[in-house]
Amino acid sequence: LGHHLVYQDEIPSTQKKAQHLAEDGAEEGTVVLADEQTSGRGRLGRSWHSPKGTGIWMSLIIRPDIPIHKAPQFTLLTAVAVVKAVKHVTGLDCEIKWPNDILYKGKKFVGILTELQAEAADVKAIIVGIGINVNAAIDDFPEELKDIATSLRAEAGTAFDRAELIQEILKAFEDLYKSYMDEGFGLIKLLWESYAISLGRQIYARTANGTVVQGLAQGINDEGVLLLKDKDGKIHKIYSADIEISSQ
Ligand code: BTN
Repeated sequence: LGHHLVYQDEIPSTQKKAQHLAEDGAEEGTVVLADEQTSGRGRLGRSWHSPKGTGIWMSLIIRPDIPIHKAPQFTLLTAVAVVKAVKHVTGLDCEIKWPNDILYKGKKFVGILTELQAEAADVKAIIVGIGINVNAAIDDFPEELKDIATSLRAEAGTAFDRAELIQEILKAFEDLYKSYMDEGFGLIKLLWESYAISLGRQIYARTANGTVVQGLAQGINDEGVLLLKDKDGKIHKIYSADIEISSQ
C-alpha cells in the first residue's frame, strides 16, 4: 500500500478525491493524504473537523475480490490496524466502539469511514477513510467536541510524528489484509473483539431511520455485523447505527 501516494496541502476531502480516483481506475493501494481538509466527511452525513497540520487525514483505495456483504469486515480490519499502530508508536492502549470509532479513556480521537464502489454483488473498490487527531490541542477543538473528543498529544503529553504513524498503519493494514486473504476473517474478528468496549454491555443502537434497539451486545458475526439481544431474547442484526453504551 502507498506505492501510489497522492498528497495535497489542502483538499476538500481525501475521501471524495479517492472516490474519483477509484472510479477512474486507480490501482489498489493508492493513498490520498492531506495536511488539511476544508470539508472533511464523517459517517451518516456528518462533517469531520480536519484542521491544518495536526492530524492524519487519509483515504486508501483497495480492491479485494469479495462480495459486497463482506465489505463491512474492512471497517473492522481498519480499526484493528489503527489500534495496533497507535500502540506501537505511542504506547497507548485504545479501545474500539462498534463499528469504527477509536477511543482513549472514553473519548474519540479516530474516525473511520468505509465506502463502497460495487458492480452487481461484487466489490469494485473500497475507499477506507481514516481521520486521526494526533497533535491537536483540546483548546483548539470546536466547543461541541471538547468533552467528547481527544488527541494523542493531549493524552500522552507529547507530540508524535505523523509520518511514522501513517507508515505503521499502512504496515499493520497490509499484514491484516494478507491474513484476511489467506485465512479469512477469523483472526481479525478475534483481535477486534479483544479491543472492543461495547461487548457484553447494554447498549442503545439508533439506526439511520431513527429506530432505537436496546439490548445486550453479544458480539459481531462473520460479516462484521453487530448482534444485539433484546430483553425478550430476540437477536437483532445491526448493520449501521450510532451506539450509546448504557451506564448500568
Ligand atoms: C466518522 O464519522 O467517525 C468517520 C470520520 C472519517 C474522517 C476521515 S478523514 C480522511 C477521510 N476524508 C474524509 O472526508 N473523511 C475521512
